[in-house]
Amino acid sequence: MRILVTGGAGYVGSVTVERLLAAGHAVWVLDDVSTGHAAAVPREATLTVASYTDEDRVTRLLVDNSIEAILHCAARSLVGESIREPSIYYRANVVGGVALLEAARRAGVGRIVFSSTAAVYGIPATTPITEAAPLDPINPYGETKRTFEVAMRWYGAAYGLRSISLRYFNVAGASERNGEDHDPETHLIPTILGAAASGQPMALFGDDYPTPDGTPIRDYIHVEDLANAHELALAATGVPLEPGTPPAVSLNLGTGTGFSVRDVIGAAEAAVGRPIPYSTGPRRAGDPPILVASAERARELLGWTPRRGSLAEMIGSAWRWRQAHPGGYGETR
Ligand SMILES: NC(=O)c1ccc[n+]([C@@H]2O[C@H](COP(=O)([O-])OP(=O)(O)OC[C@H]3O[C@@H](n4cnc5c(N)ncnc54)[C@H](O)[C@@H]3O)[C@@H](O)[C@H]2O)c1
Repeated sequence: MRILVTGGAGYVGSVTVERLLAAGHAVWVLDDVSTGHAAAVPREATLTVASYTDEDRVTRLLVDNSIEAILHCAARSLVGESIREPSIYYRANVVGGVALLEAARRAGVGRIVFSSTAAVYGIPATTPITEAAPLDPINPYGETKRTFEVAMRWYGAAYGLRSISLRYFNVAGASERNGEDHDPETHLIPTILGAAASGQPMALFGDDYPTPDGTPIRDYIHVEDLANAHELALAATGVPLEPGTPPAVSLNLGTGTGFSVRDVIGAAEAAVGRPIPYSTGPRRAGDPPILVASAERARELLGWTPRRGSLAEMIGSAWRWRQAHPGGYGETR
């Protein structure tokens, strides 16, 4: 298949590009490298440095390269920033997203897989979370992701767009080639590994949650398992629809197992072979005690099974990548 990956220079996008290339697909990456790295894009993929929000440019890219399907990973995705600057999030994730849908419509590309998030659920009443849970985001990041999912549903009903929204829980780990290099880094595992490398204590936000060890519980998914799910989802958008089946589908991606912050710190200490310094502070606003996915629907519809679900594998691969790239990617491709 001929696939355009927006955000293919980012963490999730780059590991997915590797996977798609290995499976024999032809891959074009569209990335403005605002938070990603050109060096993360394998040479076998064609990189265009531009924004997916530029409708005319994207239309030409799709037409000129006879693209058949789009994987839309690019987004603004910092929760705190989204609360301070909702304007940026509505422009990029909603207005820009619709520009991408329009480009796809003009170019006759009718298949899209979208990087959504567990943040669309807000603070769920029950766990594990199924796709039937109410969508009630508590920040503009989650809200704009939900809004784009809904836009794709209506484009499906009116124009036949086939879409799959993949609601990731906490992505972790690295491939041999690509890993996580964000500035600022807001994700737990690279933050812990940063503390391990620098010896500077990391902040643990609250240890008085209603969980067995008092720290929040999350569902971590290995980035290579996620990449595999994207490949299956892209293929699924090409399977003829059974009568009565909706053209837009949303699927949770997690392992269904929860680990607490202290579990993750313990597993990281085992991986790096030394204690990791941290200081405990107050809770962060908007952090639910437990977020664990039910990924039954993804298993059923995609035939997907996570294979690298242990913390040891996720943290071990992230630590190996970090040791091989102590300064991150640098600037060269
Ligand atoms: N990492 C996670 O734990 C996680 C969890 C849930 C959802 N997500 C979603 O998955 C996607 C990928 O996340 P990530 O962690 O790989 O983020 P990332 O920041 O590493 O990657 C995003 C990529 O998109 C690019 N980009 C941003 N705006 C762009 C624009 N206007 N035009 C072109 N490229 C642009 C960035 O340069 C970057 O390479 C995001 O949509 C994010 O919301 C990630």
